[in-house]
Amino acid sequence: MSMNEKLLEILEANKGAFISGQELSGKLQCSRTAVWKHIEELRQQGYTFEAIRRKGYRLVSKPERLNVGSLLARLPAGFPWNIKYLEQTESTQNIVLQLARDGAGEGTLVIAEAQTSGRGRMGRAWVSPKAKGLWFSFLLKPQIALPYTPQLTLLLAVAVCRAIRYVTGLEAGIKWPNDILLHGRKVCGILVESAAEDERLLHIVAGIGMSVNLSIEDYPVELHGIASSLLIESGRTFSREDLLVETMRQLVELYRIFQEKGFSPIRTLWEALNVTLHSQIRVQNGQVPIEGKAVGLDDFGALLVETAAGDLVKVYSGDIRQLDTQTSRA
Ligand code: BTN
Repeated sequence: MSMNEKLLEILEANKGAFISGQELSGKLQCSRTAVWKHIEELRQQGYTFEAIRRKGYRLVSKPERLNVGSLLARLPAGFPWNIKYLEQTESTQNIVLQLARDGAGEGTLVIAEAQTSGRGRMGRAWVSPKAKGLWFSFLLKPQIALPYTPQLTLLLAVAVCRAIRYVTGLEAGIKWPNDILLHGRKVCGILVESAAEDERLLHIVAGIGMSVNLSIEDYPVELHGIASSLLIESGRTFSREDLLVETMRQLVELYRIFQEKGFSPIRTLWEALNVTLHSQIRVQNGQVPIEGKAVGLDDFGALLVETAAGDLVKVYSGDIRQLDTQTSRA
C-alpha cells in the first residue's frame, strides 16, 4: 500500500473529523512536511480536504469515479454502445483509432479517468488530470461523402454545447469550428480524426475533452486566461456522469436528425450557439494568416471569411482569433 493510500485509509476511518498533522506523521512514520506533501498529491487527484491550524486535516470529498453500469443504464437506447473504461491511458483517441483499424463498430466509446499524453488540435497537448474532467473518444461511421466531414465536426460542437447548457445552466458558446467557450475561455475541445479510402469516408473518431472540475492549478501558467473549466468559470462542481450522458443523448438525437434531414437543421442550431459569426477574425491554418469578417458557413461546414479586399475565402480548418470584442450570440 502506498503512503497516499495509507493516508486516505486513516482519514476515511476518521469519518470526516479532523486529525492532527502530528498524529498522522506518527501513524505514517514520516515528517509533518511529508504528510502535507501527500495531502497535496491527493488534492491533485481530485480529493478535497479541509486543513486548519492546530486541528489538522479532514477529508471533505473523494473524486467521483465513472461507472460503466450506471452509464449504460442512462445512455439512450437503440445505439450500439460498446464501452471501454480505463483508469489511465496515454490517449483515448489512440485507442479508438486502433480499434477502428481493427474493425470495431459504430458506438465504440473509450473513457479514461486520466490521460498521460492527451492530444489536442494542431499537435497541442491536452491537460487531462485524474477524475476531474471527461476524456473520451468514440467511433462514428456516417454514410457521407468525404468533403462533408466538417459537418460532423460542427454537429459534435452543437451536441456538447447543448449538453453543457442543459446540465449546468451556463451560457456556453461555440467558437468555430468546435471549441466550447465560457466567458471567452475554452472549457471543452473536440478533436476529429477520420479515415478515408478512395474518396469515401470510412469512419471518424471524435475525441472530446470536457474540463469539468479542474482548478486553475491544474493548468500550466501559459494557459491561464485561455483554458478553463466549468468549475473555474462558475465556482460550482458538476457531475461528470450527468454531462457525459447528456452529451451522448444530444449526440444520438442530432446524429439521427442529420441522417434523416441532412445538415440544414444542424447548421441552424450551430449558428444560434456560435460566438464567431459577424466578428473580425484572423485565421491561422498555414503560413499566411487570413483576416476578415466571419460571414457564414457554406454547405460543407466551411467558414466563409470576407476579406477587406471583398474576397470570400472558405476556411476548412485552423485556429481563429477574434480581433474585435463584438460577439454574435443569437
Ligand atoms: C482541442 O485541441 O480542442 C481538442 C482537444 C481534444 C481532447 C480530447 S480528450 C479525449 C481525446 N483523447 C485525446 O488525446 N484527445 C481527445
